[in-house]
Amino acid sequence: RSMRAPKDMAAEGIVLQTVDSTNDELFRRNKKTPLPSYSFVAAEKQTAGKGRVGKSFHSPFGTGLYLSVLLKDEVYVRPDLITITAAVAARRAAARQSELPVEIKWVNDLYSAHKKIAGILTEADFSAPSRPVVVGIGINTATSQESFERKQLPRAGSLRGTAVDRNRLAADFLSELHACFLTDPRDILKEYRTHNLVLGRTVRFSEGDIVSTGVAESIDDNGHLIVRAGTRRVTLRAGEVSVEGD
Ligand code: BTN
Repeated sequence: RSMRAPKDMAAEGIVLQTVDSTNDELFRRNKKTPLPSYSFVAAEKQTAGKGRVGKSFHSPFGTGLYLSVLLKDEVYVRPDLITITAAVAARRAAARQSELPVEIKWVNDLYSAHKKIAGILTEADFSAPSRPVVVGIGINTATSQESFERKQLPRAGSLRGTAVDRNRLAADFLSELHACFLTDPRDILKEYRTHNLVLGRTVRFSEGDIVSTGVAESIDDNGHLIVRAGTRRVTLRAGEVSVEGD
């Protein structure tokens, strides 16, 4: 089964039954035959889905949208803002099919009703011509929460309430991503801040081996999180924070 990418793009997309990782598959395909930006690979199931920081991403059949999109350097100006941009696009697409608000947890997780419903893994091959970047998104769309929750993290949630149309979710994500990359990055950052659930909250973060807490004050123009920890102001560039009392 194949699906068409948004109009006016010579991109190609494919939906596979099963694959190790849609991110890996898209890089492999692009290596074999260079593909245009916004080409995508989706799968019903992944056998070796990848999460951030080397974690695996549980990707069973029938409970999620697993989708990877290719971006080349004609699309992005700021490689460091690709994940932020993708999070904004994914939030818009998910919110359209959710009865509950969908928020972004810095850097790139989507949350609804205090639970993680989606994650994004951005990978780049800057040694290759046209500097291909693959943005991979996994959105849990299980209508029955339980089967997913038991196997996945205890805090995993899903877009629920209504039966989620994964084709629509995928198409919306692709067209929102396209729209977001045509938007001034300052406006993307503004929208990212508006829907972020960490600002004003006490967060726990680590600097090397030391774990500290502080109040998430702002997100700067580079997408970095500024945390006030006592008298210190710390700039977090990447990594994870946990929100206290959540
Ligand atoms: C995270 O939450 O740590 C990021 C999860 C990213 C999962 C998606 S599913 C589609 C794409 N292919 C992968 O192997 N990972 C991403």
